[in-house]
Amino acid sequence: MNRTSADGAPPVTSLDFDGTPVPFTPGQTVGAALADAGIVSWRTTRRDRAPRGLFCGIGVCFDCLVTVDGARSQRACLVEACEGQDVRSSDPDEPLPLPAQELPPHPESQTHPEESHG
Ligand code: FES
Repeated sequence: MNRTSADGAPPVTSLDFDGTPVPFTPGQTVGAALADAGIVSWRTTRRDRAPRGLFCGIGVCFDCLVTVDGARSQRACLVEACEGQDVRSSDPDEPLPLPAQELPPHPESQTHPEESHG
């Protein structure tokens, strides 16, 4: 979404945050765009489930982690917002889904070679 303001201000574009368009001004970080939109917390701590969002704002504390275009654990305060970017608040500490693969047979389900010859 591109909008040009009548007063000559920079065009406002939007990223996608958990399915909701969030406007930003070119040059803003994802974290700044979220904060400007009133979104101040987008994840929780693992143990206490305490809300987290921007804290240091300079890439030091790692409180602002988000998933950006599939890349997990990105610091929202450092990633520049881009048009159409897919930003998700999903917990970056959640285990990744296992890739679909064939599991090896369980050892107890295998027949010992000597047993198979009777
Ligand atoms: S707010 Fe501290 S690393 Fe992003």
